Amino acid sequence: MTRKKRKTREAATIHPRNKYAENPPDFALLASLYPSFQPFVSLHPRPRIDWTDFNATRELTRVLLLHDHALHWWIPNGQLCPTVPNRSNYIHWLEDLLSSDIIAKKNSDSGCVRGFDIGTGANCIYPLLGASLLGWRFVGTDVTDVALEWAERNVRSNPHVSELIEIRKVDDTSDDLSTELHNSVAVDSECKILNEMDGREEGPPLPLSLSTEIVHSEKRYHGPPILLGVVKDGEEFDFCMCNPPFFESMDEAGLNPKTSCGGTPQEMVCPGGERAFISRMIEDSIVLKQTFRWYTSMIGKKSNLSFLISKLWKVGVTVVKTTEFVQGQTCRWGLAWSFMSTARKIISPHVTNKSVLSFMLEGLLPQVSALSILQSVEHFLSTGGASCKLNASSFTVDISASEDHCRAILKNGACEMDKGGSCVTVEKSEPQPSTDLCFRVSVFQQIPGTLLVKGSLHHKSSPSAGLFSLIFHGLEEFLKAESCKEKVL
Ligand SMILES: C[S@@+](CC[C@H](N)C(=O)[O-])C[C@H]1O[C@@H](n2cnc3c(N)ncnc32)[C@H](O)[C@@H]1O
Repeated sequence: MTRKKRKTREAATIHPRNKYAENPPDFALLASLYPSFQPFVSLHPRPRIDWTDFNATRELTRVLLLHDHALHWWIPNGQLCPTVPNRSNYIHWLEDLLSSDIIAKKNSDSGCVRGFDIGTGANCIYPLLGASLLGWRFVGTDVTDVALEWAERNVRSNPHVSELIEIRKVDDTSDDLSTELHNSVAVDSECKILNEMDGREEGPPLPLSLSTEIVHSEKRYHGPPILLGVVKDGEEFDFCMCNPPFFESMDEAGLNPKTSCGGTPQEMVCPGGERAFISRMIEDSIVLKQTFRWYTSMIGKKSNLSFLISKLWKVGVTVVKTTEFVQGQTCRWGLAWSFMSTARKIISPHVTNKSVLSFMLEGLLPQVSALSILQSVEHFLSTGGASCKLNASSFTVDISASEDHCRAILKNGACEMDKGGSCVTVEKSEPQPSTDLCFRVSVFQQIPGTLLVKGSLHHKSSPSAGLFSLIFHGLEEFLKAESCKEKVL
């Protein structure tokens, strides 16, 4: 592939909310800011690092996590070193899945997303990114002592997110239990067909007979438990994610002569490779069903992707989704499935009418606290007549607004914003059945001087989702103009 073609493809597949979508890491700037990174950067003819040097890729990841995410991070020599832009893509894809209308909404909407990272590694990259970018909670599991020890260290080095992340050891003596459970499971063969497909929604399913046969006919995974036996009784999660050991042997893993991202046999290899590993995840999911809203995994080989998709349809899932992650010369796929009943069969790759939205307030003035931001939220929304209930202990404001209130809020917002040069035009729409727009705004402390503001609609399929996004955008402009050092002039 020519460089130009590769760049175009990469730009097309990097998630638009990925911090690096518009601005790839600036090596020269990072080298000027972080002396420890300097020796790894050659500035001529253009700033670059030697991707075949493990120390250089590790230092790049360290400074990117620090500079862009305020995360303190390290891994010992030889452990798998993640690339931050690539791992961020998986997080944003999950964010899209969670905010889409594909499957039914959770009954209890505590507003807090809970994820389960299978094989979090020494780098613990997904929980760290998910917690710092989006305030998500995580259980991160692993089997090796080195992974568990360093994942713990990486969590402890970041007190602003450490409360959100639990590192859990997989007891590898309990595989017998999960195998027993698998053998006794009765598999539901019924499979709903999604007739309306869009680019990446997979299907339709093959006609089905029964899955036990399928489940037991291929090369099986023999190794520590993955989900069954690790998930505790009564636990529920919004999603699980996994960057599995892709290969059957280190020979197969090979050494990419163009990069050096480390990776020990324990991280890269398992009997049967990713096909067997993810097949076991699928078998676990048949037992655990709605314990997870979404089951997801990264896939390294396209041939495995099609194999796993057809396997999924045969075991009675309600929906399968895929995506493609491209990072430099590496291409991976994301696979997601669910047993929840399907709500609506839409999906554009990047959802427009979202029910959960968020933004960061960075560079806050010293006197601004999470509480004062909540008060500003209350002020902004109640001036339009909306009813607002501020809860100072959960750091939330619950809002209920009629269509007229929404219009007034947007008008007020537009006046406020006109002072700053931007403008919102509010037009009266056709009369609609009156449905109040109910949503919650939550504020999370990230690091000193930075807050995450999240808005979640109470009813995901609310017809007012578009209005919600307008109001939330207005709120973002208002809070930024009021509270951040760099005001729009
Ligand atoms: C390819 S690494 C991924 C590490 C990290 N999540 C990342 O994306 O860089 C796979 C990890 O899975 C772990 N692992 C292997 N089998 C496992 C199991 N049954 N349960 C949990 N983790 C497992 C390995 O120890 C390794 O840390």
